[in-house]
Amino acid sequence: MSFSLVCNADKINNDLLKSYDALPADPYIKDGMKRFRTFSYGEVKNGKVDWNATKPFFQSNEANSYAGGIKRSFQHTGEEAKKFAQAIVTDALEKEWVNADHFFIGCHQIRVTADAKIVGYPAPEGFHHDETDFIAINLINEHNVNGAISFISDFNDTSNILFEKKLEPGQSLYVEDLKHKHYVSPFTPKLPNIETYRDIIGIAFYMNDR
Ligand SMILES: [Fe+2]
Repeated sequence: MSFSLVCNADKINNDLLKSYDALPADPYIKDGMKRFRTFSYGEVKNGKVDWNATKPFFQSNEANSYAGGIKRSFQHTGEEAKKFAQAIVTDALEKEWVNADHFFIGCHQIRVTADAKIVGYPAPEGFHHDETDFIAINLINEHNVNGAISFISDFNDTSNILFEKKLEPGQSLYVEDLKHKHYVSPFTPKLPNIETYRDIIGIAFYMNDR
């Protein structure tokens, strides 16, 4: 599989949806954007995620010209998102999308919002890869979103679009990160004066500790 659209709606419950209301603001975001996020790093052994391995999140400048080149520390991900990540890991192992006894994951729980003055940017860095082996990008929920189209391109030629779709809540995109780049277009409120947000969990699979 180099990329695949998967349904994970059965792994989403009300507690997970509600947990987004408590996410802290992303301190590394630049002007004119609103993003809320947590991050935890876990070690997977025998199918179980051990979250004690947590460390800062780092992307190089090459992978992320927007916020790369610095170690970013975020508040740790809450139990609800950790449970979701565990379910994704279990599923990925059962379906043999990941063939390893021992690997590592990064779990990013992120809400991006928009309003009349602020555009939502799910991927402010543009087409990118995450310097990982495999990513599962899961759309957990969204409200009043106009835009936010997901794209997957050829790794070396981002004008060569291989996938283009607005994801439904519960849908996930699994991507081999060394083979493709990904992007989500900006979004605005569909109707005025209504709360507008897009909630995701991005799970990065690392076959080697990073
Ligand atoms: Fe990404």
